[in-house]
Amino acid sequence: TTHRKKIIAGNWKMNGSLQANAALLQALAAGLQVAAPACAVIVAAPAVYLAQIQALVAGTPIALAAQDVSAHDAGAYTGEVSAAMLAEFGASHALAGHSERRQYHGETDAAVAAKAAAALAGGITPIVCVGETLQEREQGQTAAVVARQLAAVIDLLGARTRDIVVAYEPVWAIGTGRTATPEQAQQVHAALREQLQHADAQDVCILYGGSMNAANAAQLLAQPDIDGGLVGGASLKAQDFLQIVAAAR
Ligand code: G3P
Repeated sequence: TTHRKKIIAGNWKMNGSLQANAALLQALAAGLQVAAPACAVIVAAPAVYLAQIQALVAGTPIALAAQDVSAHDAGAYTGEVSAAMLAEFGASHALAGHSERRQYHGETDAAVAAKAAAALAGGITPIVCVGETLQEREQGQTAAVVARQLAAVIDLLGARTRDIVVAYEPVWAIGTGRTATPEQAQQVHAALREQLQHADAQDVCILYGGSMNAANAAQLLAQPDIDGGLVGGASLKAQDFLQIVAAAR
């Protein structure tokens, strides 16, 4: 009983090829034609493939996301891709602050917030990722860590916060096969919801990510504050991803 339409987003990470993308998207499109999704379906692909995928998803319910976005709109930022560029190739969304970007590329809370702002300015919906490490969880810091990460975004965006999507991805659950229990996830989602409420952004979708799969998706998605999933490994297998999509209603 929520008016938030669920979102299932696949994060392909640095996987794919022209051939593999075409095969995966054809299988997804065929599956979604047989069973129309009750949720929004998004794939986050490496930026170089957006043009290919834009053509492949035309006429399907599949929307496109980038996995990262520059905090700048144009200029001397070698290697970066702006929100406007992503939008030109059909991306409607971009991940911002995925834990792998925070961990391997030193993205700070402030940098992630700047990316979210740049995305919105360029016509792209940022999917802002937050989540604690195993050590932080064991030290009882989960709530403080995700609150700090989200606060940086809210502080910069203000009223525009209501135009983002949030993804809670506990770092210890990513790619480990060790998913958060529905209760663990719901607890964090409820706290994030409250924080968004204070920013007058209670309708923002909060996705769960971290070893979501065809077997555990339904239980996670049944939680009142889990509005969808951000799926890594299982998004690379058409049947698994389609089963997760089917669980989102
Ligand atoms: O962004 C999705 C992700 O980090 C979760 O990955 O492989 O655990 O589903 P995975």
